[in-house]
Amino acid sequence: MRISIIGTGYVGTVTGTCFAHLGNEVICVDVDPSRVERMNAGIPPIYEEGLEQLLREHAGKNLKATLDYDTAIANTDISFICVPTPSDENGKIDLRFIREASRSIGRRLKDKKSYHVVVVKSTVVPGTTEQIVTPVLEEESGKKAGKDFGVGMNPEFLREGKAVHDFQHPDRIVVGADDPKAAGIIKSLYAGYSCPILEADTKTAEMIKYVSNAFLATKISFSNEVGNICKRLGIDTYKVMEGVGLDARISPHFLRSGLGFGGSCFPKDVKALVGKASEVDYEPVLLKTVLAVNDKQPEIALRILKKHIPDLRGARVAVLGLAFKDDTDDIRESRAIPLIGMLLAEGATVTAYDPMAAEFMKKVYPAIGYAKTAGDALDGADACMIATEWGEFARLNGEFARMKRRIVIDGRRMVDPRGKDIVYEGLCW
Ligand code: UDX
Ligand code: UDX
Repeated sequence: MRISIIGTGYVGTVTGTCFAHLGNEVICVDVDPSRVERMNAGIPPIYEEGLEQLLREHAGKNLKATLDYDTAIANTDISFICVPTPSDENGKIDLRFIREASRSIGRRLKDKKSYHVVVVKSTVVPGTTEQIVTPVLEEESGKKAGKDFGVGMNPEFLREGKAVHDFQHPDRIVVGADDPKAAGIIKSLYAGYSCPILEADTKTAEMIKYVSNAFLATKISFSNEVGNICKRLGIDTYKVMEGVGLDARISPHFLRSGLGFGGSCFPKDVKALVGKASEVDYEPVLLKTVLAVNDKQPEIALRILKKHIPDLRGARVAVLGLAFKDDTDDIRESRAIPLIGMLLAEGATVTAYDPMAAEFMKKVYPAIGYAKTAGDALDGADACMIATEWGEFARLNGEFARMKRRIVIDGRRMVDPRGKDIVYEGLCW
């Protein structure tokens, strides 16, 4: 099929490239000329495992990028909207880019003779496709949805860093559409997949995405709360969760306690669901608490450090890990940000290390030290705090000998203290 992708962030780039790899003709549209240039040169605008190779294979062949909506809409049969949906200052979802993309597509649909399907892939609060995207498309095109063109909602469940793998090995595909023709066309794109394909109306599809992320975030906050209790009771929470996760109804995933969740999705999506619930006169007590527990974890890490060094003024602290999780250079909502902020407020001197994300953190904290290796960050430090689950931190050993005082506060259960000459404390264990 001929597919256009609107927005080449991590979702748009991965979706477009993977659809091209399935044999479709793909045109990506972005408002940013440098992104378009890079895509056409086969250079991914973002880092994703396995993406560069796939993009190289298809760029300039069955995958092209352009700034021009006219070409993209005229020469494709289906468009996926993959523009960002940030939270505004009150935590409510900001739909400006969704509206803009819908307007731009709608204008081009006006003169288009053949049937076209517009699919929202960005994460949007329930009702957005039906109440915003469809009316904007109808207004701009002068045509009727469900008759002259189709509208759908097809959420992504892509983890950053593993997005190509997740696209190619989904647990399920959710196809939301308010008319059967659009649903059939979207489904046909996934004909080669063996996972379940769930059909729903657009607002149910939107809700499935929010609830999936809110549930995973809840599992993490739940594990953190249990971990905070276990630590006080002298029980190893990781052993507890191993035992709990063996129950097939629970599953062993997303039960790792520590500094909590960051990234561009969990914090934003839970906040947006809280915002939507309030709009319909419901007080989402549980979801608010999921966020509150998450916000507290960095404070708890600081409190543990202060048990060992009560006055942090002038203390040198090495923060290992800046990305919101391993295998990505993304620092959005990274737990390292509030952690470093609190350390600085306490008067500590911070030297940070991250194998990929340091350049981005320099924009947030230009004045702290950045080391080229974990060992260099630890050199002369009074304490070490581990903020990201990078695999290399599990292999640290002799590097700790470079510290002045060997206090290690582990926010991600990366270091096994056995046989090491360090004072070790886990955040929840
Ligand atoms: C995506 C989804 O859109 C979001 O809903 C989900 O929750 C997380 O993943 P992401 O791919 O991370 O967002 O977005 P981002 O990396 O910010 O990039 C989006 C791209 O869209 C950028 O290249 C931007 O230039 C482009 N864009 C933005 C447009 O082409 N048009 C616009 O109007 C706005
Ligand atoms: C998430 C969802 O997993 C994906 O399906 C969705 O579409 C986009 O949002 P992502 O944000 O890329 O993906 O990362 P994920 O691997 O889910 O981790 C999110 C955060 O939770 C990270 O900060 C990670 O450190 C934290 N986490 C994860 C925990 O603290 N404990 C866990 O057990 C798992």
